[in-house]
Amino acid sequence: MTLSTSQAPHRCLLHLDASPRHDGSFSRQLSQIFVSLWQQANPNHDIVYRDIGTSPIPHIDESWVATYEAEPEQRTPQMQAAIALSDTLIDELMAADCYVFGIPMYNLTVPSSFKAYIDQIARRDRTLHLNNGTLQEPLQAKKLMVITTRKFNYRPGSGREDRDFLQPYLTAIFNILGLTDITYIHADRLASDPAEQQQSMNDAMTAIHRLAPIF
Ligand SMILES: Cc1cc2nc3c(=O)[nH]c(=O)nc-3n(C[C@H](O)[C@H](O)[C@H](O)COP(=O)(O)O)c2cc1C
Repeated sequence: MTLSTSQAPHRCLLHLDASPRHDGSFSRQLSQIFVSLWQQANPNHDIVYRDIGTSPIPHIDESWVATYEAEPEQRTPQMQAAIALSDTLIDELMAADCYVFGIPMYNLTVPSSFKAYIDQIARRDRTLHLNNGTLQEPLQAKKLMVITTRKFNYRPGSGREDRDFLQPYLTAIFNILGLTDITYIHADRLASDPAEQQQSMNDAMTAIHRLAPIF
């Protein structure tokens, strides 16, 4: 049965950018194209934007960890305050049903800004798939599109495939959060000669044009 637009469930896309640069950022350019195409295919649905590249997420600190380790019912108001941002980020994740993340590769993996984000959203009391033997499934039905940019080619056969710690890391951590529907689009060879760089961007854009409208 096909649902009409009015019957279709309301959707929300969380769009996140992690590049610290605006001018010339390839990942921002590609994630924005993805969002525009998704919006055309899903008019009147919600898009929430979070820019951790230029508004960095703080690293977790001592009071955060103390709160994380305390049982929720033992948390004082001060402890609640220490994880308030974490709660906000998790609420934002849960309110969306799909995500597009634009992430540059830095030193073979995600930028530290994105690692700080992961540390804030991975919480045993809220998002870990398995908590004390009990299944929690907050992210299980969600889907994630990761658009990465990098200078070199790490694809199978490139000779560098064992140095891509970005994709295996993201897959592992989001699987632990219960999210297994993950697609990657890699724009690589971005420091190569202009023709090769353009070809790589064109290939990424072709994939985005194909996948964004059906995401
Ligand atoms: C600090 C830093 C580390 C980087 N590390 C890598 C790397 O390990 N491998 C790689 O292929 N490219 C690396 N690059 C290149 C970036 O991934 C590339 O410039 C990418 O386009 C950055 O994304 P953006 O254009 O959205 O800012 C690095 C760039 C910077 C600034």
